[in-house]
Amino acid sequence: MTNTEVREVVRKKYGEAARRATAGDRSGCCGSSEASCGADPITSDLYDALQTREVPEKAVLASLGCGNPSALAELKGGETVLDLGSGGGIDVLLSARRVGPAGKAYGLDMTDDMLALARENQAKAGLNNVEFLKGEIENIPLPRNSVDVIISNCVINLSADKDGVLQEAFRVLKPGGRFAVSDVVVRGEVPAEVRRSMELWVGCIAGALEETEYRRKLAAAGFVEIDIEPTRIYKTADAREFLSAQGIDAEAIATTVDGRFMSAFIRARKP
Ligand SMILES: C[S@@+](CC[C@H](N)C(=O)[O-])C[C@H]1O[C@@H](n2cnc3c(N)ncnc32)[C@H](O)[C@@H]1O
Repeated sequence: MTNTEVREVVRKKYGEAARRATAGDRSGCCGSSEASCGADPITSDLYDALQTREVPEKAVLASLGCGNPSALAELKGGETVLDLGSGGGIDVLLSARRVGPAGKAYGLDMTDDMLALARENQAKAGLNNVEFLKGEIENIPLPRNSVDVIISNCVINLSADKDGVLQEAFRVLKPGGRFAVSDVVVRGEVPAEVRRSMELWVGCIAGALEETEYRRKLAAAGFVEIDIEPTRIYKTADAREFLSAQGIDAEAIATTVDGRFMSAFIRARKP
């Protein structure tokens, strides 16, 4: 698939998810099989009760992340935050509360139905220090050196141009600015066919980066103080139904795959 084709597949998938959440259904089915709906090991229980009480119900219903970046990003009053691929807006609204009225939280998304839902959630939350922008994370519609913290929740793995995303993140961050994102990461070598099936289960349309490769790309974009911390580690057993629908025996591949697919919190700093 070309970069444009990947983007169109992603836009269609998340447009549908936004419409489900708008209708009041949980859209948390990160994997591409319906079997991964319900007790989804990737998207479920990411936020504590205090956080979910701070945002409208539809923002929680639309949550499709794999981490809790605003909780881990150590946000301070007055900071400007940008969420890459903001979806229904949950992490933007939580960030806006953390940075307070002197700060600002931007959400960036390319999918119209997600933006409409996010703006509805912003209005319900009554937050004025929030702005949702339409655009692509590979071409961020903000000036250079304008953001203190970049967050993102399970979006960079969807991009076919990860170098472009990281270069753009670096450009818009102020000197000293922080990159603080949740993403799916692969640890070490995994046979290509099995890797693709696990990635599809996790919902990585373009493919997750291998941990060392992620570090290398961040460093190439100019980032320093790079750290990748696992937050959830997945097992083939979690994906058993999905794998067996693809003709793969989860038990047979468990020893080569278990512990290699994870949600991680990725930190880096612009010097
Ligand atoms: C997995 S959902 C995550 C949404 C949100 N971060 C959350 O935690 O609920 C991915 C979101 O990223 C958006 N997205 C994916 N690729 C994008 C791109 N290249 N540029 C802008 N938005 C993108 C999709 O439209 C969708 O809303």
